[in-house]
Amino acid sequence: MSAAVGPSYWLGNETLKVPAALFVLNRRRLCERLGINKDVQKSSIVLLQGGEETQRYCTDTGVLFRQESYFHWMFGVTESGCYGAIDVDTGKSILFIPKLPDSYAVWMGKIHPPEYFKQKYAVDEAHYTCEIASILSARKPSVLLTLRGVNTDSGNICKEASFEGISQFAVNNSILHPEIVECRVFKTDMELEVLRYTNRISSEAHKEVMKAARVGMQEYELESVFLHYCYTRGGMRHSSYTCICGTGDNSSVLHYGHAGAPNDKTLAAGDMCLFDMGGEYYCYGSDITCSFPATGKFTPDQKDIYEAVLKSSRAVMKALKPGVAWPDMHRLADRVHLEELTKIGILRGNVDDMMKVHLGAVFMPHGLGHFLGIDVHDVGGYPEGVDRIDLPGLKSLRTARVLQERMVLTIEPGIYFIDHVLDQAWADPAQSCFINNEVLQRFRGFGGVRIEDDIAVTASGMELLTCVPRTVGEIESFMAKDGNKALDQVVLSQQL
Ligand code: GLY
Ligand code: MN
Ligand code: MN
Repeated sequence: MSAAVGPSYWLGNETLKVPAALFVLNRRRLCERLGINKDVQKSSIVLLQGGEETQRYCTDTGVLFRQESYFHWMFGVTESGCYGAIDVDTGKSILFIPKLPDSYAVWMGKIHPPEYFKQKYAVDEAHYTCEIASILSARKPSVLLTLRGVNTDSGNICKEASFEGISQFAVNNSILHPEIVECRVFKTDMELEVLRYTNRISSEAHKEVMKAARVGMQEYELESVFLHYCYTRGGMRHSSYTCICGTGDNSSVLHYGHAGAPNDKTLAAGDMCLFDMGGEYYCYGSDITCSFPATGKFTPDQKDIYEAVLKSSRAVMKALKPGVAWPDMHRLADRVHLEELTKIGILRGNVDDMMKVHLGAVFMPHGLGHFLGIDVHDVGGYPEGVDRIDLPGLKSLRTARVLQERMVLTIEPGIYFIDHVLDQAWADPAQSCFINNEVLQRFRGFGGVRIEDDIAVTASGMELLTCVPRTVGEIESFMAKDGNKALDQVVLSQQL
């Protein structure tokens, strides 16, 4: 992508150059889809409203702005307070930027004219937001297509474009959402290139964490190692989600790391570490989990659980190709887990019978994975006609779709020992009959193991985007070799 002609986003050094052509193509794809939708009238204009800057509560302290995801997908604009329009018939694009007050030049920096943004973002025209009504009405659109629809992960509704004077236009807010969502599900070559980059940088950052990890450190120190690498080497000012740095029992808390559990435990010998972190570059994300022992050396129990999860991860990767239904991949992971937990001695009995009572969900209560793109839980998991499966484990899947080429997903099987869930299973005779409680007791407090990779579906299988040490042997030798080297450097720097 570095040879791109035309404007691009680039943060210097070794960071990725992302051409504005990526968004030109996204707009063209959207127009093509709308062009064959029989509900779309001639002379329709798509109108999106970009994200707004916010302040901390009632203060004047700004919260670092990150563009709204649909607007980013269509325009790649980093500034807040913008609107964008596309004439569906011609594909011509118009960017509307806020007219900034003179004080902006003092406090925030140079005020650029519309022409500057026209060049920067490769749009056909740029005007001020205060001109939206007059510019659009001069084009005499039959209808404005605005964006309104539910995010199937959060249940939230996206913010529909609105501006002074919109009442003089005919507006349709139902056509656009499913069409743009469907475009976002299938990644272009240029988007795949960005996701390869976010994965490469985030993989390297995870390796830095593995090298740095030591008994006695705080979880947040390792969070900071990750964030520092992503920003300094990858230009990633944002991460895709709050870093999850769970060690010991915390590694069984699926979304640990929030303000109430802020990665503040001390790493102890015997802890498993589960670090789920992903850097974001130009709004494209990554979502990677590495699990490893704090000491760099697996105990026999840690090795058994880790290898059970690795086996399910690799079984899914082997089976994955276009035409495969994602819930079947979830079931495959469950089956491998149950087989392996039986070999370990935690379970006993027939695995088919265990599957019938959904025993897999006791150890993996979350879904196997989800779409990834501009959002870490990317849109499009449940379009019309695809229903959530209301069964333990499967109901947590963020998509139940049949896979197609150019979908990007996470594969993130895990085995967790969560007291609350284990107690429920033990109290249920249909499930407890499979549990060898004596052996299970040994794993209470173990925490959990998750192995999370990002993949792109190809014509015949999949491309693995994540690249980190994965086998027990790879992890142990990586942590021993590079860990010691890092330790040597620390010792050396302390001597100097
Ligand atoms: N990091 C959130 C997830 O794995 O889905
Ligand atoms: Mn994750
Ligand atoms: Mn994930």
